[in-house]
Amino acid sequence: MELEDKIKQKKGKDKIVMLTAYDYQMAKILDEALLDLILVGDSLGMVFQGYKDTKSITMEYMVYHTRAVARGVRNTPIIGDMPIHSYDTLEMALENARRFLEAGANGVKIEGNKPEIIKVLLDAGIPVMGHGGLLPQTAEVYRVRGKTPEEAERIFQDTLEIDKYGVFSIVLECIPESLAKKITEKVKAPTIGIGAGKFCDGQVLVINDMLGLDESFAPKYLKKYTNLNKIIKDAVERFTEEVRSGAYPDEEHIYH
Ligand code: KIV
Repeated sequence: MELEDKIKQKKGKDKIVMLTAYDYQMAKILDEALLDLILVGDSLGMVFQGYKDTKSITMEYMVYHTRAVARGVRNTPIIGDMPIHSYDTLEMALENARRFLEAGANGVKIEGNKPEIIKVLLDAGIPVMGHGGLLPQTAEVYRVRGKTPEEAERIFQDTLEIDKYGVFSIVLECIPESLAKKITEKVKAPTIGIGAGKFCDGQVLVINDMLGLDESFAPKYLKKYTNLNKIIKDAVERFTEEVRSGAYPDEEHIYH
């Protein structure tokens, strides 16, 4: 079954599970864990490259990481996150979306209400995931959106517009649960929330965040499923100690 139908038919039935990945080994683990979608997110700007936001990310980076992820994946559909300025014109959007597909993605994600761009990609047969609520590519500050009635109404209308042409899903980022519920009930596409409460049709998290790699990053929506920061530090400290004391390498780890 086509990616689009497979995800669309889950609406109102099975929850959709999506995580980000940026490299081969992580992608391989996620693929083996049988989730529904892997997003090569432009969040790699922060968690992989150490920038303060996603605004420095270019197509070159995205293609590089998409290729790495694709090498690790056998079954899970991969979505390439179109970075800022990669869809400034219809021509650029089409050319860059095709670059994602060539790199191994099965569809692309576009931030914000961009009906012409969504339409041109869909007409070219490229599956599109929308993205409403907090839009990191244009946001000056990262905060919950849609708390005032006016902002909530704008996000609601924008999302209806994104839904109109047939995107196969819509990410809703950092909005109140009641607004995400209203949108989810109204749109045809399944919604995938991050900081948007429990009524969305699915959930997405940034893999580094849910694995607890960064101790200092702890927004309210984020549940850390493990503490890789501590696990890695403990392992590195043990290695350091054993190298310094001469305990490593021991007989078991030496060639003769
Ligand atoms: O770039 C990203 O990781 C994203 C998710 C937060 C949905 O867009």
